[in-house]
Amino acid sequence: MIGVTTLDEFIIDRQDDFPFATGDLSRLLRDIGFASKIVNREVNKAGLVDISGAAGSENIQGEQQQKLDVFADEVFIKALKSGGEVCGIASEENDDFIAFENESSRNGKYVVAMDPLDGSSNIDVNVSIGTIFSIFRRKSEIGSLATMEDFLQPGTEQVAGGYVLYGSSSMLVYTTGNGVNGFTLDPSIGEYCLSHAGMKTAENGKIYSMNEGNYFQSHKGIQKYLDKCKEDRKTARYIGSLVADFHRNLIKGGVYLYPGTTSAPSGKLRLLYECNPLAFIVEQAGGKASDGDQRIMEIVPRELHQRCPYFVGSKNMVEEIEGLLK
Ligand code: AHG
Ligand code: MN
Ligand code: MN
Repeated sequence: MIGVTTLDEFIIDRQDDFPFATGDLSRLLRDIGFASKIVNREVNKAGLVDISGAAGSENIQGEQQQKLDVFADEVFIKALKSGGEVCGIASEENDDFIAFENESSRNGKYVVAMDPLDGSSNIDVNVSIGTIFSIFRRKSEIGSLATMEDFLQPGTEQVAGGYVLYGSSSMLVYTTGNGVNGFTLDPSIGEYCLSHAGMKTAENGKIYSMNEGNYFQSHKGIQKYLDKCKEDRKTARYIGSLVADFHRNLIKGGVYLYPGTTSAPSGKLRLLYECNPLAFIVEQAGGKASDGDQRIMEIVPRELHQRCPYFVGSKNMVEEIEGLLK
């Protein structure tokens, strides 16, 4: 049409990328895009309506849930359940995965793991937050209920991964293994429009992003890396919303570090719905994601909320960190 490609048009055009595709994955991606617009609407008025602040509950990981965490979780669950392409969903906000019992969902071919609202601590202070998602083909039989096995697949099995950034403008970025494309939400027409086609990240970047409050709790190799970043006058940037930190580094070149610490040897970030989808994207953009020793996407998960140390971004920077951790 008039010189813009909307997310929906793009997804339909790209359906031919998948041999034997029936359109289910395309529909699923559109459902996620649609649900994210509802979340975006609430995020945009968070200070005006009674949606900011704590929900008064904790999630399985003992973290305070914010009202928007709970809201976003419900919106995505509803959208995916009514879509019928997905037989179950695992989310940061729920202890166990949810197996959709309605008939159309039981016939769904996919499962989704997601962080419905990433960067919760930034909601109340008007700083960028996000959504992260990962899509797998189910292992269990079509027609039955989703099983744990459907979710505990390594990242290499992802059929799609992506994120939504609710920032100064909102963006949806995703990959299905054929490169990375980014779409900016035009609020005047309510559509995501292709704005960043074929995203690539630099092999070497200038930015390093870590919560340096954890410096003394970190491995000597990490301390050495941070010292060297300072000696080399690299740029320190840390928002505290993984999606926002990742997105900036993807575009500008850089590395994000969330290492294991003495009190949390596996770090903080969750493999299934934080690390894997962004690892898929960064690799498709020419970058790298590692736990310091192993490629993130090759880790075989043992549990839904498993954490792992995370180093993601420009290839040479991640490799330098791996070298220092040996
Ligand atoms: P979530 O809000 O989904 O729980 O994720 C928060 C994560 C991530 O977004 C961010 O990069 C990291 O926690 C920040 O942790 P620190 O406050 O320890 O730096
Ligand atoms: Mn998160
Ligand atoms: Mn979250």
